[in-house]
Amino acid sequence: MNTDTHVSNRWSSRYAYILAATGAAVGLGNIWKFPYIMGENGGGAFVFVYLLCIFLIGVPVMMAEVVIGKRGRSTPANAMTHVATESGHSSHWSIIGSIGVLAGFLILSFYAVIAGWAAAYVFFAGSGEFSAAAADPATNADAIGALFTDLITSVPQLLIWTTLTIAAVVYVISKGVKEGLETAITYLMPALFVLLLGIMIYSAIVGDFAAAFTFMFHVDFSQLTIEGALVALGHAFFTLSLAMGIMMIYGAYLPKGVSIVKTSMMIAVADTVVALIAGLAIYPIVFAHGLEPSAGPGLLFQSLPLAFGSMPFGDFVGVLFFVMVVFAAFTSAIALLESPTAYLVERQNVSRTKAAIIAGAAVWILSLCTIFSFAGAEWTKLSFGMGGDIFEFLDYLTANILLPLGGILISVFAGWVIKPEILKEEFNLSDTYFAVVLTLLRYVAPVGILLVFLNAIGLFK
Ligand code: PHE
Repeated sequence: MNTDTHVSNRWSSRYAYILAATGAAVGLGNIWKFPYIMGENGGGAFVFVYLLCIFLIGVPVMMAEVVIGKRGRSTPANAMTHVATESGHSSHWSIIGSIGVLAGFLILSFYAVIAGWAAAYVFFAGSGEFSAAAADPATNADAIGALFTDLITSVPQLLIWTTLTIAAVVYVISKGVKEGLETAITYLMPALFVLLLGIMIYSAIVGDFAAAFTFMFHVDFSQLTIEGALVALGHAFFTLSLAMGIMMIYGAYLPKGVSIVKTSMMIAVADTVVALIAGLAIYPIVFAHGLEPSAGPGLLFQSLPLAFGSMPFGDFVGVLFFVMVVFAAFTSAIALLESPTAYLVERQNVSRTKAAIIAGAAVWILSLCTIFSFAGAEWTKLSFGMGGDIFEFLDYLTANILLPLGGILISVFAGWVIKPEILKEEFNLSDTYFAVVLTLLRYVAPVGILLVFLNAIGLFK
């Protein structure tokens, strides 16, 4: 193992860092996943718990990850080793890095498939499928629904899109052509935000905004199950790209003098705002057309095309929207492949190109499970646990088990293992604020995660 792996690169500015971290954070989690899991878990109460998880648990854990990366100035497992030994503790803590690599790898296997759906939708919009399907108000929702079902049950189409997505990610990671991409993202992310706002206003006008707003912000705890609380917690980690070593890698490149606390807050707020706007764009359409909020993973793809189908220049707006979704997904997918690649380079001593290809090939093979799950293949149906299929299992295992577990370990590590002086110096906070953050890391995050987790797996029944 090569332990002298200190990285010497630095972000060119605080802005470059915020942009990259926000680029990794904002993705399918915000636009595709958040709206449908909110619908499956009853709306307002779920949103409320989700916000608590983001700000009381997610932000402190993000700060901890960035500090570990910055202090260790290395890839995750090695950074953990450096920081643990600096504080006089065992290097076994690097297991956190390994859990993260595994989670990132598993997540990418289904993330790439969903990114492929978005890519296919660029072409549906471009060829006028939305306006054709939405032409007859009596059957529009069914026609748009059929478009989606036809896509997810077409294994050859999905194979093509998923393969292209993974190949592009491997190419970017191995060739390090990130600069061009970063420039593109600099314009595309703000553009996505503005477009999403525009779509939200359009759906507010033509759809049922009042119903959407009540659904999302009326907190009725009788609608929330403990399982739903775990989903909210897991999604807070998923959407902020936590517990996967990503923020450690980004932290390793952080220049001196950038406030970890402020930047973490900014990233979390930006990410949350995008998710809420996506919800407010989708739900007015859902309610106006009598769709089910609990429609599941197809929600985004079955609702917004209805709006595109009926708005002026809708096919064009549809193309723009899905192009931006593809880009948002792509930046996240790159971050996701980065952690297994870095791991292979660091621990197995292979070249970066080779590592990216090996990791990409493995992700591709695993992605077949998700593709065939949506196509309804018999072999993907699980008989154990809660039933469901392999896609649902991978989603559950990563978001609801691996990420919260990583979150507990990171907060315990930062709160109890790293010397408080080091933490205080890195956070650069006044005594009072530091005490608050330390309390969140020491008690609120680990105990909160543990309680939700044990409850959800049925320990207190
Ligand atoms: N945060 C991304 C999203 O919400 C997913 C992701 C997780 C990306 C981890 C990178 C690393 O879509």
